[in-house]
Amino acid sequence: MSVIDHTGLRLPAGLARRTAAYGPSFWAGLDSLFGLHPDIIYFGGGVPSQELIPVERLRYASDLAWADAPAALDYGEVAGYRPLRHLIADRMTAQGTLVDAGQVVVTNGSQQAIDLAARLLLNPGDAVVVEAPTFIDAIRSFAAYEATFLEVPVDQDGMRIDALREVLRGAAIPPKLIYTIPTFQNPSGTSLSLSRRHELLDVAREHGLAVIEDDPYGELRYDGDPLPSLRSLDPHVIYLGTFSKTIAPGLRVGWVAAPEHLLELFRMAKEGTDIHTARIVTRTVFHAAEGFLDDHVAGLRAVYRARREVLLETLAAEMPAGLRWSRPDGGFFVWVELPETINASELLPMAAANGVIFLPGSGFYPNPATGGSHALRLNFSALPEDRIREGIRRLAAVIR
Ligand SMILES: Cc1ncc(COP(=O)(O)O)c(C=O)c1O
Repeated sequence: MSVIDHTGLRLPAGLARRTAAYGPSFWAGLDSLFGLHPDIIYFGGGVPSQELIPVERLRYASDLAWADAPAALDYGEVAGYRPLRHLIADRMTAQGTLVDAGQVVVTNGSQQAIDLAARLLLNPGDAVVVEAPTFIDAIRSFAAYEATFLEVPVDQDGMRIDALREVLRGAAIPPKLIYTIPTFQNPSGTSLSLSRRHELLDVAREHGLAVIEDDPYGELRYDGDPLPSLRSLDPHVIYLGTFSKTIAPGLRVGWVAAPEHLLELFRMAKEGTDIHTARIVTRTVFHAAEGFLDDHVAGLRAVYRARREVLLETLAAEMPAGLRWSRPDGGFFVWVELPETINASELLPMAAANGVIFLPGSGFYPNPATGGSHALRLNFSALPEDRIREGIRRLAAVIR
């Protein structure tokens, strides 16, 4: 049985309106494709390469963490393990974003920080500005707070500020916040240029908008000079970081560097959600990262840079005319635009039958009808070079 609520949504009886955000999972739809070929090459990941996860280091760090038991198995500080917060603040400061350990709240990945920010900022019906395309699970999180979305297209220099201004002029509901992934964006791979960083912050100030800067990939730069974080240019920015891409996603350790006026609220929201992040795990991440992470990240950069090169070279060598793709200076992803005659979702089962799976672009839009039908995302971090070459050959054959 279903009921229609006052907004016109059809919902199974007894369920909250926010369950509409949890529609059929993008990922669930992929499962059936894996059976179509005995040797699938999967370009769908958004993860570090498994063989680059520092397992031995984590084992050593975990022993140190357990040495604090049983005290570390009691409840503890809501904001998270203090030495880890210092390490986060020191690393951010060394990279040019002046942050104090007292401003950091450790979270279960940056995904939880997105959720906490949404909880603090959004009432049902509030509008959020996002890049189009943007990160799938951020869409899901904002939608669960019954947000509406204003989509701003990206080009090779990130979010288009002229389009942002136009969207704000035309908005029926003035938005509350801008959610942006300014550096090596998921999924487009593009970065917001320096001048646009300043412009975006100007627009946010003019319109009284909060800014969430989601930065999981910023450290994974393969070319060029680092760009200043939005947070380094404006202390009101809510900055989200994570160890998921530099150490391992399954640890579920990320953080928010909250602006002063929201800090206590972030701590309260964290406490009201899960009290704090697992204390043995945050100690493990601290001991693993201390005196190790900078060298480890340098090693990751070398491997991922080479994989990106292989992906870009193979695309150039194999793909027929009429396709375009991004050339990211870092991160995990290349965004491919197909000719208008090819629909990426229709291409996917054919590609899977030929042994290759990618993520179709429309999944990265809050409203799949608005874009991405002729685009797809390719990950290059999680596959060895020979698999990237072979995968692109297979994909190019299907496209041809
Ligand atoms: C842009 C972006 N934000 C947040 C996340 C979530 O990361 P975490 O594992 O830290 O929750 C991801 C993971 O893919 C991401 O790409």
